[in-house]
Amino acid sequence: MPETNAAQHDFDPSFFDRPIDRRGTYSAKWERYPGDPSAATPADWIAMSIADMDFQVPEAIIRALQKRIEHAIFGYTLVSDSTLEAIVEWLRRRHGWSVEPEWIVISPGVVTSLALAIDAFSAPGEAAVVFPPVYTPFFHAVEQNHRRVLSIPLSLGPYALRPNRDTRSQTASPACVLRPMQESADGHGLRYRIDFETLERTLASGKSRLILLCHPHNPGGRIFTREELSTLAEIARRHDALIISDEIHADIVFTPGAFTPLASLPEAAERTIALWSPSKTFNIPGLRVSYMIIPNRTLRKKVQDALQRLHLQHVNALGLVAMEAAYRQGEPWLDAALAYIRQNIEFVRSAFLRALPGVRIMEPEGTYLVWMDLSDLPFDAKERRRRILEEAHVAVNFGEEYGPGGEGWIRLNVAAPRRRVEEGVGRLIRALSPMSDPRSSC
Ligand SMILES: Cc1ncc(COP(=O)(O)O)c(C=O)c1O
Repeated sequence: MPETNAAQHDFDPSFFDRPIDRRGTYSAKWERYPGDPSAATPADWIAMSIADMDFQVPEAIIRALQKRIEHAIFGYTLVSDSTLEAIVEWLRRRHGWSVEPEWIVISPGVVTSLALAIDAFSAPGEAAVVFPPVYTPFFHAVEQNHRRVLSIPLSLGPYALRPNRDTRSQTASPACVLRPMQESADGHGLRYRIDFETLERTLASGKSRLILLCHPHNPGGRIFTREELSTLAEIARRHDALIISDEIHADIVFTPGAFTPLASLPEAAERTIALWSPSKTFNIPGLRVSYMIIPNRTLRKKVQDALQRLHLQHVNALGLVAMEAAYRQGEPWLDAALAYIRQNIEFVRSAFLRALPGVRIMEPEGTYLVWMDLSDLPFDAKERRRRILEEAHVAVNFGEEYGPGGEGWIRLNVAAPRRRVEEGVGRLIRALSPMSDPRSSC
């Protein structure tokens, strides 16, 4: 009988405060210099880039892995009913989503699933719609599979999330709706919105029948409302389009219940391939395990055939063990991690607003990523990059890599001990302060 939610640790912030040196583990985040993989990172480098956390994983994962390792045979491993049950329970408990075990298709990674689904549901030369700025591999997964990217940039504006007052339908009424609001200088209320009008026109013209959604949105941290998701699904239905919804950040959400899985909406379920993983949630991306949720039997069969064709149906045995332990026993750790991350975000926001008021910060509704607009600072892109990498010795992700609309922005990963975040932010502020310009004569 598997253990259920037994690890009742009372995590206090000191658990997440512990500085763990990740050098010497070939960490992609800590040991790779942006833009030059062959260059070693400086000794005093602070990595706030690639999306993994600097926190130790829940004890329950470590214990489960140790037990499995002690068995000392690591043969090809099937996906157990117990693992599927742990996923189903997690989705029901955390997201109120009822999923049938047979809808779940295990795969080694979310980007692998993304590429595979693009390949399964479009032909070479066809186009896939993306909403930039967006996670860079969205572009790669399309282009490297010889499809075309059809960019429909997100609209950027001050939008407020308001409780929905529509009481006509109790069950179908979304919890929150997005409404335009007044501009504010510090970026308060700055959010992305999908340009549904252009999407409708694009699909109506027959240019594409495949939509790639990043929900929650990386890099902007948006959690699309039920109303927005429903609009998206309706447009897709009218034009017989499929939606691949990358929901890898779904558990990193600061308001319980704010996240709606796209395929949990009846109007979306039959045309959605949802991509999930415990990897962001529990900091285990190196264990290479993820899954797709595909309610539509025909679509699911196509994806399963594509996985077989590439012989990707077997995943890492340790990844499966870690996933099950995380979903069954990792909840207290996750809740504590979310509270800690939320405070880190608040620290970053207030530190920048105080010291560099020209910087506009998008408050993430989810993810541990802070997306900020530096374009009002008096430097060009090259000088911005030089100051950040060569003066501050802080690794960030530069907005240009996220496609149109990313220019002038940076993305900061704040899933790290507070002291490390304070040090990184302090260095960035000093390096980006116009006064620190060595060539400034005044
Ligand atoms: C939106 C999104 N999708 C996918 C991934 C990567 O997933 P995987 O490592 O499972 O391929 C990331 C990692 O940062 C991400 O942010």
